[in-house]
Amino acid sequence: MIISKISFANYRNLLDNEIIPDKGINIIYGKNAQGKTNLLECIWLFNGVRSFRGSKDSDLVAFKKDFSKLQITVFSQEREQTADINIINGKREAYLNGVKLSAPSQLLGKMSSIVFSPEHLSLIKDGPAQRRKFLDSALCQIMPRYAVILSKYNKILNQRNALLKDIPYHRELEETLDIWDEKLAYTGAALIFERIKYIDLLKKKVREYHRGISENKEDLKIKYSCCYKIPKGSTQNDIAEFLLNKLQKNKRDDLYLKYTTIGPHRDDIDIIINDMKARTFASQGQQRSAVLSLKLSEATILDEITGEKPVILLDDVLSELDTSRQDFLLNKIDGWQVFITCCEKRFTKQLTNGKTFLLNNGSVTEETKI
Ligand SMILES: Nc1ncnc2c1ncn2[C@@H]1O[C@H](COP(=O)(O)OP(=O)(O)OP(=O)(O)O)[C@@H](O)[C@H]1O
Ligand SMILES: [Mg+2]
Repeated sequence: MIISKISFANYRNLLDNEIIPDKGINIIYGKNAQGKTNLLECIWLFNGVRSFRGSKDSDLVAFKKDFSKLQITVFSQEREQTADINIINGKREAYLNGVKLSAPSQLLGKMSSIVFSPEHLSLIKDGPAQRRKFLDSALCQIMPRYAVILSKYNKILNQRNALLKDIPYHRELEETLDIWDEKLAYTGAALIFERIKYIDLLKKKVREYHRGISENKEDLKIKYSCCYKIPKGSTQNDIAEFLLNKLQKNKRDDLYLKYTTIGPHRDDIDIIINDMKARTFASQGQQRSAVLSLKLSEATILDEITGEKPVILLDDVLSELDTSRQDFLLNKIDGWQVFITCCEKRFTKQLTNGKTFLLNNGSVTEETKI
């Protein structure tokens, strides 16, 4: 997908305007608090999801205004299309080619972008929940059925956990645990099976991107990590039986702790740079590069599966990278439309092709090349 026009009105601090981006790299630069992230956020909303900053819809409307209007014109699925998002009375509504959609989430799969923002460093730095979230949301985007299984699994997990809490008071309930174990094992195995397949796809790409960013100096490896070793080539059914067996073995622990100690809700991705665990040993720049490699690989897989390249939104990514890593992002990612924000004008000089925009106090102006 290539965005050919973006217009916005009453969106956060951005002044009503329209911009015509380049089909390659677009740098948006400006001082702190001018509206750079706001601009990326408004492109992101066209995924049909909530802000990547976790803001409420009503927070997106400019102060003292009662609605926001956003529109993008894109070339996707081999034709020109428009999408609108209006935020009225604190709620988002979406239109595709002038037709109102039943929910903004209907844009999912029709418009797509991936975002890197400094908060995404938590993918390396924080606990496993962030990495599971990355896997789950990547899989939901390429496989809507995954979202259905995930929600089913979470319901079963909640019910099993509630039962674990009730059993000490109603001993007779213990025999019903087996039913939940079976449901949990079979639904959980479907998640694990898809996650392992996805990691297998991701693995090679992540390594290649990371080599590119680090000028072949670093080796990035990722691996799906379970609380039990899954032999290579296991079927979904093998995984389910494994999981069931483990659940039964752990029954006493689970009853004592009153929660389910194993299953895909406890799994993780091991991220290793040059044979060292990234979470513990990677430098700031290495962490940034690793997250970027993961995000760019996610975009590549999305392109391979849907046949449509997502737009890449990179918020404030350049500052902690050395010149060669910056150069990789600015000049070596070919064939993608990228929006990249930064504070310093000097980065625009490193750009060989593309457009630059200055964001000053909510006002966006395209800079002409000298
Ligand atoms: N609903 C809103 N109405 C008006 N202004 C808002 C609204 N929400 C946020 N802002 C303002 O938008 C300004 C710009 O925010 P933004 O995060 O886009 O800055 P930025 O250019 O990315 O800065 P930085 O370089 O520090 O990341 C903030 O100062 C914030 O107060
Ligand atoms: Mg910002």
